[in-house]
Amino acid sequence: MSDAQWRPIDAAELPQWRQAAGEHLREVRRAAGEVGYDRAVDGALARAITDGALALDHAVWRVTTADAAAGWVWLVRRPDAVVVADLAVPDAAADAVAGKLPDVIRDLDRNAFTFSVFRHDPVTAALRRADDRLIASHMQIDVDAVPPAEGLTLRPMTPARYADFARFAVDHYASELLAAGAAPNLAAAERAARESFARLLPDGLQTPGHWIWAACAGDAEVGMLWVGVQPERAFIFNIEVAPAHRRKGYATQILRAGAEQARIAGRGTLALNVWGHNTGAKQLYDAVGYLTTDQVFRRELPRRPRRT
Ligand SMILES: CC(C)(COP(=O)(O)OP(=O)(O)OC[C@H]1O[C@@H](n2cnc3c(N)ncnc32)[C@H](O)[C@@H]1OP(=O)(O)O)[C@@H](O)C(=O)NCCC(=O)NCCS
Repeated sequence: MSDAQWRPIDAAELPQWRQAAGEHLREVRRAAGEVGYDRAVDGALARAITDGALALDHAVWRVTTADAAAGWVWLVRRPDAVVVADLAVPDAAADAVAGKLPDVIRDLDRNAFTFSVFRHDPVTAALRRADDRLIASHMQIDVDAVPPAEGLTLRPMTPARYADFARFAVDHYASELLAAGAAPNLAAAERAARESFARLLPDGLQTPGHWIWAACAGDAEVGMLWVGVQPERAFIFNIEVAPAHRRKGYATQILRAGAEQARIAGRGTLALNVWGHNTGAKQLYDAVGYLTTDQVFRRELPRRPRRT
């Protein structure tokens, strides 16, 4: 397919776009095998439309291809990059849309963009270039497929240990955000890490829906696991094995014990997010059978030559 016409949508088209984007985002995630995406989709759409109008930092185009098939492109302008929020276009338009997107993003006055590539989705796959930077992978496992843990038990973390963990976790999460390219600088990363920790664990160890365990082999504490129970799945917020105990199979056993807890809580899926630079952890999850449902990439764009 050759070229495509891009036209910013007008206010009258908002309801139709909202409906189409909601359906498309759900379909793409369902096809990727993801579970528990409804809240994220609804939240993103709610942020896009405020008081019946498209929010200022959002932009939506009606894209019509040469064979008259039509679709929608939804972008969100963040301070340091544009986020590709949805490409609801026909598969045949994927290359044309991918080719034009950098120009559209520079027209939004940004020189970088992030996008998700969903498993089984040819449209987002067409965006991917070899030197795009992997920011994060979203992974999950069906807990019924996980064997029971051997030689490892999860015990509720003690309040004294939690105080250390909380301090370390915020600093560590900030450095991870920075290293992953998910925050523009250290101050922003620290702020985001503090906010996220306070939002997720307002009552520390007592926060409903969150379990924080010490992982023990006999009497020795070898690591920790933090799992949140969400409506349709359980989610690993943190897993760690103490440096002296790594590469002895403990994380594998901790993941098994976590899957067992998810099963007890009635959740069929255990999901997690691994940063792109954490190749060791990604290899661990691949090795124990986690499925990658989507990956988030970032591309820096060459600056446009100045027009005279
Ligand atoms: C990632 C981490 C939890 C792995 O713990 P672990 O107990 O060493 O993992 P396991 O021994 O169960 O590893 C099982 C398999 O996973 C893979 N793996 C684990 N760590 C790896 C690494 N650093 N590099 C490459 N492969 C790795 C290997 O295939 C390994 O099998 P092998 O040792 O026979 O080669 C640990 O390195 C850690 O705590 N890192 C810091 C915190 C962190 O990154 N957490 C993950 C957040 S998403």
